[in-house]
Amino acid sequence: MASSPVFLLLLLAFSVRGSAFWTPMMPNMIETKLQFYLQDWETGKNPTATTIAGAKGLASSVLNFGTVLAIDDAVTEGADRNSKQVGRAHGIYVNSALDGSDLHFLFSVVFTNEKYNGSTLEIQGADRFFLKQREVSVVSGTGSFRFAKGYATLETVYLDLPGLNAVVKFNVTVVHLSSKGHF
Ligand SMILES: *[C@@H]1O[C@H](CO)[C@@H](O)[C@H](O)[C@H]1NC(C)=O
Ligand SMILES: *[C@@H]1O[C@H](CO)[C@@H](O)[C@H](O)[C@H]1NC(C)=O
Repeated sequence: MASSPVFLLLLLAFSVRGSAFWTPMMPNMIETKLQFYLQDWETGKNPTATTIAGAKGLASSVLNFGTVLAIDDAVTEGADRNSKQVGRAHGIYVNSALDGSDLHFLFSVVFTNEKYNGSTLEIQGADRFFLKQREVSVVSGTGSFRFAKGYATLETVYLDLPGLNAVVKFNVTVVHLSSKGHF
C-alpha cells in the first residue's frame, strides 16, 4: 500500500501544500490592526463581570490571588460605555499573582459589527494591570480571523478601583488567513 504510486502522489501533494503555508512569505496571510475598548464593570448598573470562585467563595475580591471571574463584557468602539458596541468579550480571568498584580486573561472577543460579525479572536495572557501599558497574546481566531496570531497592547483608560470597574483599551495586531485565501 505504502508503495502505491497514488499514495506517494497524495503524500507529495500534501507536503507541497503544507510547506507552501509555512514559507516565510506566508501567502494568503494578511495583517490587520484593530482598536477597541473592553468595558469591564463588576458593580453598579448592569455589571458584566462576576466572581465565580475564590479563596473566600463569592465574597472573594478580584484583587486577591485565586479569584476567578466570568465575563460578558461589552467591546466598544470608543472609551465611553455608551459608544457603539462592536462585540462582546466572553470568558474568564483569574487573579494569578500571589501579590494580586496579574489577571490571567482567557476569553474570546466575539465580534457583532458588520465587518467581522460572528468572527472571534482568542485572547490569552498576563494582564499586569498595575502597569500603564502591557501586552497579551492573540492565540487564534475564527471566521475572518482563521489562523490568527498576534498581540494586543493594553492600557487602562478608566479605573474605579473601589467599584472594581475598568475600561481597557486594546490595540490589536494580528496576522491571519485572508478571508479570500485558500490553501
Ligand atoms: C450578525 O449576524 C446575526 C446572525 O448571524 C444577525 O442577526 C445580525 O443582524 C448581524 N449583524 C450585523 C451588524 O450584520
Ligand atoms: C494604541 O494606539 C494609539 C494610536 O495608534 C496610541 O496612541 C496608543 O499609545 C496605543 N496604546 C498602546 C497601549 O499601545
